[in-house]
Amino acid sequence: MSQNNPVYPVIWHNNSVSLIDQTRLPLEYSYVEIHRSEDMAQAIKTMIVRGAPAIGVAAAYGMYLGAREIKTNNRNEFISRLEQVAQMLRETRPTAVNLFWAISRMLKTAYESIGTVDEIKSILLETAQTINAEDLQTCHRIGDNGLKALPETPEKLTILTHCNAGAIATAGYGTALGIVRSAWREGRLEKLMAGETRPRLQGAKLTTWECVQEGIPVTLITDSMAAHCMKQNMIHAVVVGADRIAANGDAANKIGTYSLALIAKAHNVPFFVAAPLSTVDFSIASGNEITIEERNPAEIYQVGETIITPEGVDFYNPAFDVTPAELIAAIITEEGVFAPSELIKYQNKQMA
Ligand code: MRU
Repeated sequence: MSQNNPVYPVIWHNNSVSLIDQTRLPLEYSYVEIHRSEDMAQAIKTMIVRGAPAIGVAAAYGMYLGAREIKTNNRNEFISRLEQVAQMLRETRPTAVNLFWAISRMLKTAYESIGTVDEIKSILLETAQTINAEDLQTCHRIGDNGLKALPETPEKLTILTHCNAGAIATAGYGTALGIVRSAWREGRLEKLMAGETRPRLQGAKLTTWECVQEGIPVTLITDSMAAHCMKQNMIHAVVVGADRIAANGDAANKIGTYSLALIAKAHNVPFFVAAPLSTVDFSIASGNEITIEERNPAEIYQVGETIITPEGVDFYNPAFDVTPAELIAAIITEEGVFAPSELIKYQNKQMA
């Protein structure tokens, strides 16, 4: 992967979907072929494909694969079985709204399409491809809009990110890492600092991998080092992605994001959230309404194959947390840079 040879985590190819197997990176860069909607649901659940926009794109193709499996010419029967596929895909991961957004868009397309079942199936494939292409464009726009939000000094910035909001978490280019890429291209980046992101280590494994492929200087720290680094004035801005943003600007992202926002506030470091508008869930007033996924405790009691805790310990493994809007300097989207409270005004204007 390089600027000239970008990476795409979800590719429609030979009548099936190729997914980069993100559970194997960085040791192995390989693709898995997905032919059936059930396998797509499993790939989302097991995080072969992950990152809010990428799972939205994957779910859209999953809807098409499911549609393709339905053997009927009866439109009503087709739609009701497609609803079942939608439900199976919705049950994979609860927090990232892009998943639900993409599934709804695919269902709406099916409901609104006139024509035979076969024609609807073709339109569904086109829609999944459009969702994929739009997300890629969106990421490039987020990346470039980010340049307007970053601090003007120093000329070369050190940016801290958390988790992986990169090319492989989206259709390509990335949201938070899209901004890092644009800053690097424009000579505005000294280096990226990547938080390792316990427990799944997306920062250590995936963000560093993306940077190394492109020659973007990257320094890995453990999550617990962020406060110390900010106190040493080593970080000029924090830029993270989001899985769901409420109408008031509260933003859910990978567990540990909230603590970074608090630390950034304490050290006067601007904290930015980068996300497509499809990540904003205007149906919920605040982050309190966001369902936080809880994952298998093995993610925290096991390192590789080794169990690291004694018998008799309880575990709690929330995969996301919610950063309150007041800690966020700006939300960087494809349509521009918004103060968190401006999102709802923008939406109301669009609806008027
Ligand atoms: O559990 P993951 O790896 O899917 O979580 C990913 C994140 O939290 C990302 O920051 C978020 O989805 C934004 S990706 C552009």
